[in-house]
Amino acid sequence: MVDSLQGASTWEQEVYDQIRSHIAAESGFVDTYGALADDVGSPDITYLARLIMEDEQRHHRVFEELASSMRAEVELRSAEDGVPDVAVVRRNSTDLVERTERLLELEREDLKSLKHLRRSLDPVSETTLWALLVETMELDTRKHIAILRHIRKIARGMTF
Ligand SMILES: [Fe+2]
Ligand SMILES: [Fe+2]
Repeated sequence: MVDSLQGASTWEQEVYDQIRSHIAAESGFVDTYGALADDVGSPDITYLARLIMEDEQRHHRVFEELASSMRAEVELRSAEDGVPDVAVVRRNSTDLVERTERLLELEREDLKSLKHLRRSLDPVSETTLWALLVETMELDTRKHIAILRHIRKIARGMTF
C-alpha cells in the first residue's frame, strides 16, 4: 500500500512508511488474540491472551497517533488526534523535576518489591499464573521508569 505524503522529505516518507507497514502487520494481532481468547476453551489461556490483546490495542492506538502526527507535520498543520508536541515553554519545570524524582524513587522501590514477591511465588510458578503476572508488572515498571526518566530529562532541559 503506497500512501505518499505530499511535500514530505525522504526521511519523513520513510518513517511514515515504516509506521504504516507496522500498523498493517499488527492490524490482525488484536483479532488473532481475541480469537485465541474466545475459542481456546481454557480460562487461564483466555486470561493471558486478553492481557496481550489489551497491549496490542494500545500499540495500535499509539501507532495511529504517530502516523497522524507525521502526516500533520508534513502538511504543516497540527494533529488533534496525534501525539502532542514537546512543549517549548513549560511552567513549573523545577516542580516537575522534583515530582518526577519522587515517582522514580517509588517505581524503583516497586521494582524491588515486585522482584521479591515474584521470588516468593516461585513454588507455585508452574501451577498458577501469579508469578508470571508479577513478572509482567516488573516489565511495566521498567517502562514507567523509562518514561519518567524522559520526563525528567525534558523538564531539566527547561530549568535554568
Ligand atoms: Fe504490538
Ligand atoms: Fe508504575
